[in-house]
Amino acid sequence: MKIIDGKEVSASVREEIAEQVAKLKNEGKKTGLAVIIVGNNPASRVYVNNKKKGCEQVGINSYEYALPEETKTEDILSLIDKLNKDDKVDGILCQLPLPEQIDEEAVINAIAPDKDVDAFRPENTGHIMTGDYSFLPCTPAGIIELLKFYDIAIEGKECVVIGRSNIVGKPMAMLLLHNNGTVTICHSRSRNLKDITSRADILVAAVGKEKFVTKDMVKDGAVVIDVGMNRDGNGKLCGDVDFENIKDKCSYITPVPGGVGPMTITMLLKNTLTASQNHK
Ligand code: GUN
Repeated sequence: MKIIDGKEVSASVREEIAEQVAKLKNEGKKTGLAVIIVGNNPASRVYVNNKKKGCEQVGINSYEYALPEETKTEDILSLIDKLNKDDKVDGILCQLPLPEQIDEEAVINAIAPDKDVDAFRPENTGHIMTGDYSFLPCTPAGIIELLKFYDIAIEGKECVVIGRSNIVGKPMAMLLLHNNGTVTICHSRSRNLKDITSRADILVAAVGKEKFVTKDMVKDGAVVIDVGMNRDGNGKLCGDVDFENIKDKCSYITPVPGGVGPMTITMLLKNTLTASQNHK
């Protein structure tokens, strides 16, 4: 069993990003990311701080816009309109979830497609279907980078994705397919889940439930990728996979924290670099 070290892979990719950001800067193009956070969600605050720290590490300027909990949809839309027109801003990130009075879809769709570094807009998610894309959603793109770094072949493999969200499950399945995997998507209505997951050479869990994937659901020698970010009864961060009981059965496994998480932020930085190159 080998633990996939997301921090190590991130550090290596971030070095490359930093070089490219510095090169652009020498050519007179600075790179900037606007980060919008609304309200007081503590998890969102941690993510946003980590994203800003990541920007600093690679030489990207970050501009935070912290708005109060009672913010209205129109207020965010007018801020985004301003940022869309601002040349120092290459990417715009609005941390989700937003307070419930806010129309999340309207907010996502207000971000100019060339600044949509989260790749949440239908234009960007849709492009994934045809393999013609400028931005890839950060978590699935980060997972593909992890597999490549460890020379884990996808071609011809049975790949099973548990979860069908627009942000992770669906784009993950498409990227595995583009890499010639044989892909199955499972979800909360899937029957015989264990039979399906037990076939997987590569199993991606994006469910949002602590210890959802148990030992009997995993094939010997499988590669297990855990996208989960849950808190256990003691408030400790944990994934969707019962790591301790599964790890010895796998060929590779991602820990939580320190697996997929750091790569998600790294891919955001990479998308911001791409946006900056396109804006030059
Ligand atoms: N909330 C949870 N994950 C994400 C993400 O990748 N981007 C944004 N903007 N919000 C999130």
